Amino acid sequence: MASKSEFRILKKERLTPVTNRFVISAPWVARAAAPGQFVIVRVHEEGERIPVTIADFDRQRGTVTVVIQEVGRTSKLFGSLMENQSVLDLVGPLGEPFHLKKGKLVIGIGGGFGAAALFPIVRILNESKTATEAIIGARTKEFLVLEKELNQVCSQVHVCTDDGSHGFKGFVTDRLKLRLDEIKNLEEVEVVAVGPMPMMRAVASLTGQYKVSTQVSLDPIMIDGTGMCGGCRVTVGGKIKFACVDGPMFDAHEVDFTECMRRNKMYVKEEAASNAAQAR
Ligand SMILES: Cc1cc2nc3c(=O)[nH]c(=O)nc-3n(C[C@H](O)[C@H](O)[C@H](O)COP(=O)(O)OP(=O)(O)OC[C@H]3O[C@@H](n4cnc5c(N)ncnc54)[C@H](O)[C@@H]3O)c2cc1C
Ligand code: FES
Repeated sequence: MASKSEFRILKKERLTPVTNRFVISAPWVARAAAPGQFVIVRVHEEGERIPVTIADFDRQRGTVTVVIQEVGRTSKLFGSLMENQSVLDLVGPLGEPFHLKKGKLVIGIGGGFGAAALFPIVRILNESKTATEAIIGARTKEFLVLEKELNQVCSQVHVCTDDGSHGFKGFVTDRLKLRLDEIKNLEEVEVVAVGPMPMMRAVASLTGQYKVSTQVSLDPIMIDGTGMCGGCRVTVGGKIKFACVDGPMFDAHEVDFTECMRRNKMYVKEEAASNAAQAR
């Protein structure tokens, strides 16, 4: 049984007004981690279990990095932790690692904290000499994450903001369309998108028109993370899949996004009540 001190926060950095990056001591998880996988974290004894992507890992140092966007009760609680404090437990690595299908050029698309989830994927691809580019987007400049880090592992990073405060003014899909129009041999391109569900659906729709192989990292509501509770059920290619064990990466053109988005809203009332209780 892992001791609590194993999950000590060694480094905390605020990336945006609502996002923090934590480097956490978790040697056993770091040893087995691969890009595309995630962990399930409990911040304290009575805390909810929340799934978060492994945003990086260092096997030598025995650390995993996670980037947490504060959206509700537990992620805010996580965001309030300081260096040298610990999370109660951190289970993983979970899910299937990312596998490159056929791309010789991989274009990673990251929306919000999705840029952080994209990072280990493009880092490993870059190390194995696969050409990598990234297109990352956020509402405004202050909500962008990991532009500098992605620049170190990609030949090009195209930054998009909704308001034009940094880089291209528009959505990541607008920028992706321009990039796809420039590329002659689209058969060699593979797109990997991580971010809010509407963004991943829009990317899938665009790349479907261009017939470009595309993977998305789905983030349905997860509870146990072991394929037993059924919480993360998604339909992919007409078949039932459980994102925690079969994913979270799936062929974007096969995903039933309408169902995914409907299921993610199942607990909206409970989430609002929990948030209100925290604010009191
Ligand atoms: C595979 C996977 C990887 C993820 N990676 C990251 C990450 O790297 N960084 C990050 O900030 N967030 C990540 N998330 C989302 C994160 O799990 C939710 O933001 C978090 O659970 C919200 O909990 P809350 O109590 O703060 O908010 P709540 O108020 O409880 O919920 C806010 C919203 O978060 C989502 N959510 C709530 N509970 C869960 C749950 N148990 N599982 C999944 N989604 C939930 C729902 O869309 C909900 O509407 C990931 C989710 C999945 C499934
Ligand atoms: S989280 Fe329970 S089956 Fe996936």
